[in-house]
Amino acid sequence: MTLQDTVTDGSGVTDDGGSGLKKDAQKAGARVGLTSDEIIINGGRPLRGRIEVRGAKNLAPKAMVASLLGKTPSILRNVPNVSDIRVVAGLLALHGVLITRGEDPGEWHFDPSNVEQAHHADIDAHAGSSRIPILFCGPLLHRLGEAFIPDLGGCRIGDRPIDFHLDALRRFGAVVEKLPSGISLTAPDGLTGASIELPYPSVGATEQVLLTAVLAKGQTELRNAAIEPEIIDLICILQKMGAIITVEPNRVIFIEGVDELRGYDHRAIFDRNEAASWASAALATRGDVFVGGAKQEEMMTFLNVFRKVGGDFDVHDDGIRFWHPGGELKPVTIETDVHPGFMTDWQQPLVVALTQAQGVSTIHETVYENRFGFTDALNKMGAEITVYTDGLHDEHRRVNRREFEQAAVISGPSRLTGAEIEVPDLRGGFSYLIAGLTAEGQTKVTNLGIISRGYENFIEKLRQLGADFIFES
Ligand code: EPZ
Repeated sequence: MTLQDTVTDGSGVTDDGGSGLKKDAQKAGARVGLTSDEIIINGGRPLRGRIEVRGAKNLAPKAMVASLLGKTPSILRNVPNVSDIRVVAGLLALHGVLITRGEDPGEWHFDPSNVEQAHHADIDAHAGSSRIPILFCGPLLHRLGEAFIPDLGGCRIGDRPIDFHLDALRRFGAVVEKLPSGISLTAPDGLTGASIELPYPSVGATEQVLLTAVLAKGQTELRNAAIEPEIIDLICILQKMGAIITVEPNRVIFIEGVDELRGYDHRAIFDRNEAASWASAALATRGDVFVGGAKQEEMMTFLNVFRKVGGDFDVHDDGIRFWHPGGELKPVTIETDVHPGFMTDWQQPLVVALTQAQGVSTIHETVYENRFGFTDALNKMGAEITVYTDGLHDEHRRVNRREFEQAAVISGPSRLTGAEIEVPDLRGGFSYLIAGLTAEGQTKVTNLGIISRGYENFIEKLRQLGADFIFES
């Protein structure tokens, strides 16, 4: 099958699981006049059952971009059916990469033999709401000597600058020009290894340096690098391609540029953010959910918090079982951080469970400057959450923080009642599904399409876990 056979529009909630939905849920959706971007959830039922998580939304698209660097085709396995994948596949195809699908639905093949520059207007039209296009810079500069990157999308959780990326690319010798619709880059003298220190362990900027340094002339030393599991998985992919990358102590990564890379065959690491989201849903609904594909090592910090709040879990070879053992949930104080700290993407789904805890919890968000906007709707449903934009200052700093802090103080337990709420961003949107599942009465969640950016077949998974809802696919 070619790309066109499989790429759905990615805009709505087009998921393979739609066909699995009970027909009556669809008929009911039509009866109440729901669009395919809305769902009505009848709350108060615990989620019970098993779902599978596949490859990480925050690794797979980057691995796809890495295929541009190879002289021969690459194979990526365990790829999730989320819209970021479709956006990046479209951009790769625009640049001449031949994309085909393997036997397994999660298996994608990329043949970069005929890479060519795409037209700016086409790239702009294709970039959608993804942030991944910024990572095309290095590979396209190596392949074509030029690149055009449209203005980026992504969740509205802060201003999401790309200064670290552009500064790093200039250090490699790229010439960056700001255009009205994006940035144009050239590398008149090719790309040469550099010594780069990131002001903050940015995941994207670390990926930018990795994808550029592997074919740059000479050596690159990257200091204050991100070392998230998805970064390490990308390094494994690049090493398979022939790159020489050393992860040294204290967030230093050393890359020795090579002349040529070949394709890779890689199974993407599981999506720890999706796994943590379903675990939080189990906790909030007093349920019992087995998350197939989840692994302990990448989730250790989350597991500690899950246990401290009062949840229980069992680690199996093929996944992790998360359940609410009964009794009260306990309040916690959490500070989000870079890996191996508590992941900023984990806090939003967990907040709903904390509204059910007996006492006052505090979440100190230190990675993004505006990641608590989603709490307004939860307060509308009966939660008691106060957001302090000046955060909580403490001296103990392992990693220098950006100059903003926010804190959300959650008092519980609160009786949540159904409301109509609109999805604001990816993780906040999933927390709204959890709020609807937890609240008494009906909750209508609109603007669901954003959730499909990072949660594969989430409607089908809700059905598998016994959720009671009306949806019209
Ligand atoms: C990645 O975003 C993830 N997205 C995010 O997940 C995740 O929250 C984040 O890493 C942190 O782990 C993808 O991988 C697609 P950063 P990224 O660069 O790379 C600032 C989700 O829900 N910064 O580590 O964009 C930035 O504003 C998403 O799945 C600069 O100031 O994150 C932020 O405050 C949300 N200048 C901080 O650094 C730059 O040039 C961390 O950003 C780059 C970043």
